Amino acid sequence: QIKTICAREILDSRGNPTVEVDIWDEAGRTARASVPSGASTGSREAVEYRDGDPNRYGGKGVLKAVEHVNTIIQPALIGIDARKQRLIDNIMIELDGTENKSKLGANAILGVSLACARLAAYQSDLPLYRYLGGVGANLMPVPCMNIINGGVHARWQGADFQEYMIAPWGAKTIREAVQWGSEVYQSLRLVLKEEGLSTGVGDEGGFAPHVKSNRQPLELIVKAIENAGFKPGEDVAICIDPASSEFYKDGIYTLHSEDSQLNAEQLSDYYSRLIDDFPLVLIEDGLAEDDWSGWKVLHQKLAGRVELVGDDLFVTNIKYIQRGIDENLANSALIKLNQIGTLSETIDAVNLCHQNHWGTFISHRSGETIDSFIADMTVALRAGHLKTGAPCRGERIEKYNQLMRIEQELGQSAVFAGKQAFIGNA
Ligand code: PGA
Ligand code: ZN
Repeated sequence: QIKTICAREILDSRGNPTVEVDIWDEAGRTARASVPSGASTGSREAVEYRDGDPNRYGGKGVLKAVEHVNTIIQPALIGIDARKQRLIDNIMIELDGTENKSKLGANAILGVSLACARLAAYQSDLPLYRYLGGVGANLMPVPCMNIINGGVHARWQGADFQEYMIAPWGAKTIREAVQWGSEVYQSLRLVLKEEGLSTGVGDEGGFAPHVKSNRQPLELIVKAIENAGFKPGEDVAICIDPASSEFYKDGIYTLHSEDSQLNAEQLSDYYSRLIDDFPLVLIEDGLAEDDWSGWKVLHQKLAGRVELVGDDLFVTNIKYIQRGIDENLANSALIKLNQIGTLSETIDAVNLCHQNHWGTFISHRSGETIDSFIADMTVALRAGHLKTGAPCRGERIEKYNQLMRIEQELGQSAVFAGKQAFIGNA
């Protein structure tokens, strides 16, 4: 039974405030969770509560969200069994009462939701992945590592596309996949150096070079894969997240780095050429969050060739995912806990996808903490792949390290998801 809940303001990886929650039960057991924060957020995401006080952290303080946990949520949850996750989440949803969790804040609610799950796992004497996923939780995901950062994550200094990820899907274990990913990352550093490009890193630990086009990072990455001794495509594939809502306006996509303007169909054809020329196997947010009709075109043109993931389009919300399924707009959904704000609703989103043979791509945020909840969650929900940044920066590394710990613990029963995890690449 929950005895005490205590929230506080801590810093995330960008140095901005975020919420951390500690929880205790009657027996004195305790658990902790913290909440990440996005930069290229979808407009339909659950709302993170920020103080708006210009005298603290430029208005980004979260003291009010902290107060909501300590004075509103805590009294409502005392005495409840931490294992009753859905009850706990529903109580918080009702206390909030808004569609987008704007009254208490999704940052307040999610912190409690995750801390409860961790406490319950502890009480059950189980590692988190097994508590959440049962004995069948043995599928190790392909780590998709974001090794070139562009767009808002690199302050628009280089590529328009926000993320270029490598997927070491030909590996046999997560340990090997992490090794390959790291070797390609180190190899890319040398390639960039040779080309006279910067090796400074962006928000997710990837390099943020001042490239001349959105195609150039793909060329650099293929070279890095080869130089590291791997076969592009067969051993290590590539995924991109253009995060195109960020460069979309009134039906037009503006590629600043190439000085061009495209409509949805033209941008879909642009992607098609990239798929022809590079081992590209997944495109996330190829089109914008409001471009529902464009997504239909994108899906018609590219489904069966790559996994098409909706991030800003679906915001981990079953309402929008269901629309995507009904209208055939994509074949996979990005899954971010803080887009929807509770663990229960996140699990609902994953289940809806899997029931409809859609993929689920579990994700960190560009602003992170060292909390590795998503590593366990990815194994528990058998999502098969996740993205949690470059093999660089502590808050990114911690998720990959946790996955390697889980794999070691599972021993012979661990299964690496490999190519099978990617939809539409048969
Ligand atoms: P964000 O970016 O966390 O800044 O929203 C991640 C993404 O777009 O997938
Ligand atoms: Zn995205």
